[in-house]
Amino acid sequence: MPETPVIYVLNGPNLNLLGVREPEIYGRETLADVQALCEAAAGDGAKIVFRQTNHEGELIDWVQQARTEASALVLNPAGYGHTSVALLDALKTLTIPIVECHLSNPAARERFRHKTYVSLVATGVVSGFGPQSYELAVMAAVRLARSSPERSGSAARSSQA
Ligand code: DQA
Repeated sequence: MPETPVIYVLNGPNLNLLGVREPEIYGRETLADVQALCEAAAGDGAKIVFRQTNHEGELIDWVQQARTEASALVLNPAGYGHTSVALLDALKTLTIPIVECHLSNPAARERFRHKTYVSLVATGVVSGFGPQSYELAVMAAVRLARSSPERSGSAARSSQA
């Protein structure tokens, strides 16, 4: 039996307020609902480690942990996606697949949301489907983890970003 891949699902600032924060944009479902969706999407095929933080340094610590502990990373960086070079630098140390995930479609919103640093190193991006973005992102991450030659790794990402 092949070992069960571990998928880290990391969430950035303000996503703890999902359900009450700008519901016309982010919907009424809570982060706990999103976590349940992720776990259902993974089923027996992967173990989900699901976390949220409002602190940039903590998010970076978890990305560093994913470098050695995870087979793939699903990341909703929230506002830090648009601002954090430090988060990008941490992501560049990963060799595992990175799936960037957004509830809304940032490309259809204010100009400052049109670009994220995370996209520079993401394998792919899922956005605009509400909580279902996470479901799709986890499905992609599980597939990528299973097909990725390096199930978890420490070599630096060879990106031009
Ligand atoms: C978000 C989009 C970001 O622009 C925003 O800062 C968020 C949430 C999303 O999931 O749609 O906090 O990442």
